[in-house]
Formats: sequence, structure tokens, C-alpha cells
Amino acid sequence: TPAMNSGELVKLGLKGITARVLECKKCPLHENATNKVIIRGSERPKVLFIGEAPGKNEDESGIPFCGRAGKVLDELIDYMALEENEYAIINTVKCRPPNNRKPTHSELKTCRPFLLAQIELLDPEVIILLGNTAEQAFCVSPLKWGEAVNMQEGKYLVKLYHPAALLYRRSLMEQQKEMIDLNKKLWQKI
Ligand code: URA
Repeated sequence: TPAMNSGELVKLGLKGITARVLECKKCPLHENATNKVIIRGSERPKVLFIGEAPGKNEDESGIPFCGRAGKVLDELIDYMALEENEYAIINTVKCRPPNNRKPTHSELKTCRPFLLAQIELLDPEVIILLGNTAEQAFCVSPLKWGEAVNMQEGKYLVKLYHPAALLYRRSLMEQQKEMIDLNKKLWQKI
């Protein structure tokens, strides 16, 4: 059976983690997954975005945030002035939940070793939690929206709105941009 403790997964490296995710049947979500959705972007990112779960487009392609919410996230990444090699995007769970429902507490817990091992190996300076589910998966609640938390020397955590929330309430985009402006020193050279 696959190693499922995040320390063991870290030793396997990012490729090893991908192999373990692909064979994972530890929770029911794998049953309906067309593709597991593992990572998009740099393997040495300055900024790591953590979303919720794959949607329909992601399930079909295997690529995180490649649909409508992904277009909004790409807009935010542009606004943050991040270069292609400066960021990566992952999700709390790697398989699409039925009808895009939120992952259950149990599913989050089962998939968490993959998430924690990815974070440790990617070793970003800034982790951006996209919405409450990412916050829940990372076990850091309650964070305040947009308020950076210093975890250790040079390591920060920020919770921002999930891009899908911005799709439905476009007015939140102004707030999101203000939160980005307040935090941009964390990833930009001044
Ligand atoms: N929403 C997410 O949280 N993640 C994706 O990959 C796509 C949409």
C-alpha cells in the first residue's frame, strides 16, 4: 500500500508524489475522477497558490485552474506581477468531488499528506490560501482575509478570496486587489 505519511512522501520527491497520487484509492473521490489534478507551474515557486478541488475542466485535463475560475486566477497572478517561473498552483484534494461539492472533512484529511508533502518540497516563501477550504485543509483557521501571517523566517501565509467567488461577485475583485497591494512586498523585490 502507498506511503501516506507526509514525511515519507517528501522523501519520494515531487515525481514520486505524483506517482502515489495517480495510484491513490484511499477515499471515494477517485472513483469518479477522469484525471487526478496535481500541480501547475514551477517546481521552485516563490508563491504557492492552494485552491479547493478540481472542477469539470480540471478533471478532464488534469491541469489545476484551467477553466473559468482559472482565468480569474491568471488575472490575479498578472496583477501580482508574478513571472511564469515564480509560482505554482495546487489543490487541497487531487480528485474532483461530485457536482463540485466541497471536499468533506474526511476527504481533506485523507489527501492532506499529499498537500503537506507538496508544500514542503516546493518550499515557497509565500503560501496563498484561496478560500476557506484551503484554510481548513491547512489547519490554520481562523485567518483574516488578506492578513499575512509570518510562519517562520521568510515564510508567509495569506488567505485570499477563491477566484470562483470573484466570478460570482465581481465587486470582491476590488477588495482582493487591495489585499494584494498590501502584501506585494512579500513576493516583489522593492
Ligand atoms: N477551483 C479550484 O479550487 N481548483 C481548481 O483547480 C479549479 C477550480
